[in-house]
Amino acid sequence: MKNVLNTETKPFVKWAGGKRQLLPIIIKNLPKELIENRIKTYIEPFVGGGAVFFYIVENYKLDRIILNDKNEELIDVYRVIQNNVDALIDELRKVEKEYLSLDENGRKAYFYEKRDQYNSNKKDRILTAVNFIFLNRTCFNGLYRVNKKGEFNVPYGRYKNPTILDEENLRNVSICLKNVELHSGDFEEIENYVDDKSFIYLDPPYRPLDATSNFTSYDKGEFNDDDQKRLAAFYRLLNEKGAKLMLSNSDPKNIDEKDDFFDELYKGFNIKRVYANRMINSNGKGRGKIAELLITNY
Ligand SMILES: C[S@@+](CC[C@H](N)C(=O)[O-])C[C@H]1O[C@@H](n2cnc3c(N)ncnc32)[C@H](O)[C@@H]1O
Repeated sequence: MKNVLNTETKPFVKWAGGKRQLLPIIIKNLPKELIENRIKTYIEPFVGGGAVFFYIVENYKLDRIILNDKNEELIDVYRVIQNNVDALIDELRKVEKEYLSLDENGRKAYFYEKRDQYNSNKKDRILTAVNFIFLNRTCFNGLYRVNKKGEFNVPYGRYKNPTILDEENLRNVSICLKNVELHSGDFEEIENYVDDKSFIYLDPPYRPLDATSNFTSYDKGEFNDDDQKRLAAFYRLLNEKGAKLMLSNSDPKNIDEKDDFFDELYKGFNIKRVYANRMINSNGKGRGKIAELLITNY
């Protein structure tokens, strides 16, 4: 059954900054060259859960798709889904059965056992992907956060009936990933794939809206203001190559009207303020609908 977004396949992980809520606005702002089939290459340098990718791949015909994320473990799960989806499904089915048969204390102990296993052994790619998906479905808020040593450290999540295996969706994801090129590196590494027939959707870690909501640690490194500046310079470089670009970020003006950080960095481009239901955990005043930035070069 088609859902309202006209996209059947959904991200196989819950991901901080996931774009499913913003997708209707993103769809409305896609470049006309994509709609008119003049775009040949689609690139996402910060793919995360891939909400936008799944929409694009199911709705447009492209010659080449390149997905990148600095989180190597995440990209390895994409690779396992691409190449070994049957084995992944079989193993996830076992884990789901074991987990759901346990009581609350048993589930908690099982979660921490799997977390230790995940952190101590990443050699077996299928087992690591199983653990990655299991932890994502059962940990607190579905976050992916690691400590300085790179160990996944999100606590147990206490869900009543979490879906650990969504077989139909995983099979659809695998089909969507057929012929997709997967990379796990820094965003700048995609430069050589870009030409004037490319569309690039850039969704970097958000600039924290205030000192308390500093969730930027998807992997060992932080994404700080210097990285935001490096990204803006990269955006200008890709613009010179003639690619169509769309970038999203948080709007610092939600907190401070005078904060022109992105308006300065992306001066000369089309900066739109759009509204999404995203909660920000400041002292209550910023709750409800807040603005996000959508910056295009078209
Ligand atoms: C806001 S999330 C993307 C969310 C995605 N659009 C979705 O719908 O789920 C940002 C992503 O950037 C990745 N990342 C962080 N630093 C990076 C870097 N220097 N280069 C490439 N990716 C990076 C993170 O691992 C994270 O998955």
